[in-house]
Amino acid sequence: APQRYEAENAACTAGSTVDSNHTGYSGTGFVNTPNASGAYVEWTVPSDRARDARISFRYANGTTAGRPMDLAVNGSVVAANRAFDGTGAWTTWTDVTLTVPLKAGTNTVRATATTANGAPNLDRLDVESP
Ligand code: GCU
Ligand code: CA
Repeated sequence: APQRYEAENAACTAGSTVDSNHTGYSGTGFVNTPNASGAYVEWTVPSDRARDARISFRYANGTTAGRPMDLAVNGSVVAANRAFDGTGAWTTWTDVTLTVPLKAGTNTVRATATTANGAPNLDRLDVESP
């Protein structure tokens, strides 16, 4: 089973709220960032060793416009402008998954919106070894 890190326990841009008005999230809610470029959510991910991990950002985007995000691990962008396409409804959640290098110790995983529409609603980050 993956390690699960809820967005509502992560660090996020000032003005973000933890909301629960769209069903289907895990935990107690999801993060709704301001609609602005640079809006971010940053998770802290411990690892007992250096390893490649599959990480999945669970999100919903109830608009028809993509909300691309820069995905960074320990301050380095590992996927620039990764697509977070519309999911059809704010209650429809899906994952964006990629493999990233983690170091031993404490890692940061940050998703940063690159357009004025801001981030999609973010539910959680799942982390597993491939
Ligand atoms: C709506 C929706 C929010 C979402 C926002 C947005 O207000 O209810 O959950 O965050 O749109 O466009 O980002
Ligand atoms: Ca929002």
